[in-house]
Amino acid sequence: RCSVRTRIEEKRRAALLGGGQSRIDAQHRRGKLTARERILLLLDPDSFDEYDMFVEHRCSDFGMDSSKNKYPGDSVVTGRGRINGRLAYVFSQDFTVFGGSLSGAHAQKICKVMDQAAMVGAPVIGLNDSGGARIQEGVESLAGYADIFLRNVLCSGLVPQISLIMGPCAGGAVYSPALTDFTFMVKDTSYLFITGPDVVKSVTNEDVTQEQLGGAKTHTAVSGVAHRAFENDVDALLNLREFFNYLPLSNRDPAPICECHDPSDRLVPELDTIVPIESTRAYDMLDIIHSIVDEREFFEIMPSYARNIVVGFARMNGRTVGIVGNQPKVASGCLDINSSVKGARFVRFCDAFNIPLITFVDVPGFLPGTAQEYGGIIRHGAKLLFAFAEATVPKITVITRKAYGGAYDVMSSKHLRGDANYAWPTAEVAVMGAKGAVQIIFRGKETDAEAEYVDKFANPFPAAMRGFVDDIIQPSTTRRHICHDLDVLASKTQSNPWKKHANIPL
Ligand code: COA
Repeated sequence: RCSVRTRIEEKRRAALLGGGQSRIDAQHRRGKLTARERILLLLDPDSFDEYDMFVEHRCSDFGMDSSKNKYPGDSVVTGRGRINGRLAYVFSQDFTVFGGSLSGAHAQKICKVMDQAAMVGAPVIGLNDSGGARIQEGVESLAGYADIFLRNVLCSGLVPQISLIMGPCAGGAVYSPALTDFTFMVKDTSYLFITGPDVVKSVTNEDVTQEQLGGAKTHTAVSGVAHRAFENDVDALLNLREFFNYLPLSNRDPAPICECHDPSDRLVPELDTIVPIESTRAYDMLDIIHSIVDEREFFEIMPSYARNIVVGFARMNGRTVGIVGNQPKVASGCLDINSSVKGARFVRFCDAFNIPLITFVDVPGFLPGTAQEYGGIIRHGAKLLFAFAEATVPKITVITRKAYGGAYDVMSSKHLRGDANYAWPTAEVAVMGAKGAVQIIFRGKETDAEAEYVDKFANPFPAAMRGFVDDIIQPSTTRRHICHDLDVLASKTQSNPWKKHANIPL
């Protein structure tokens, strides 16, 4: 009995050391924390309950069955814990054990926490740092990936899933983060790609570095694969803790409400003059968002990608909200392919997880041009329209200036079941801007119709007279209105007709 106890202790000690001190040192020299250090930083002190510390891989090829090739726990640390007191399931791949590569056992450990998370109703957080499929295991490892992918899909919309890429993630491995709700990256030490630079060179003859191909900058600014990048492991994990506070634990959980010290009826006088008199001049939608939300705190999602739309999480009177805003500072706030897809995915996350949507509208329309048409703006723009239309969470919309054409309809309009739709006095709800409209109607004839058009259409009255906006409000009172509406709408119930699933244009 004594020897069993000793063996248990030995195995535990071995598991805590992962691939051994020299590999831990190598991990630190790269500026990376170990799998366990990451978990300790992410979770509340003493809250981590570990699973499967004694699981070992079962491969016997290539000398893998020798005791020196067995590591208790194998190449991933899994379990559950708390973040600011709220439950989360985690897995953290251990690069010091076979480069964090995925064995059958490794995959089983991940599947176990995902299954538990789905049953209990708590988010899954994956800390990825892996050389991909365990080469010695072959198809066993591919099966493991598929088991995880299936669970990613089944958990989608059930519990929030977050991936933090903290090292390599290549080949088929990328599809697990891709299936999760949010993918964050660590700058300089993480990368995601389907095939590495050597394969790219041999197939397409392109010279590209690992960083250019799949680093944090590429994925947060160019491809849109990742939603945010952070400076280093510590910065990323602390931001993840902050981000977690905004999320409900599952689709059965209401969005969390925090204690709020920012008065819900606070007036924001600077908003009365924020929209420039010339309707072509830009202003920063982020200024409006910051000034309205609690304590000016806004967790922006995809801040460097498709910057003509702004999306992210904030709180209003302590309640989590999802914010969507056109950004007049970038491409006049036009909707294009990338901004439509960015917006649609965010709206669908909020709707799936009971997070009310606040939409700020200043949109001159969809971006014209062959690049957009050939790229499929019609089907991509339809995604945002679809997402807003199907959403049944409380929806509050504020038109700050332009709401032109089809883009007016798309941006959480009254017609798509907006609950509270407001216009500021500077709002212009119309088919298009006055200049374009007059050119089309009068085809180059000298006319003073532009002034007439502005008088008739470039103001909030035509929409307000028809009840398409519920009220024209003084901008300084916007926070008060939204907080009040959210209180009333907390008991909103609305559902869509039964179906197996809808067929969102992809
Ligand atoms: N299967 C098994 N072992 C792996 C592995 C894998 N997929 N990837 C890495 N390892 C092992 C290495 O053999 C090495 O073992 P050691 O510590 O005993 O020497 C250890 O993990 C660290 O790898 P190393 O290559 O020294 O680290 P690196 O930082 O220089 O490179 C990678 C990291 C991921 C770029 C590199 O290991 C690699 O290309 N791995 C293979 C990727 C791949 O093709 N995966 C399969 C397809 S999905």
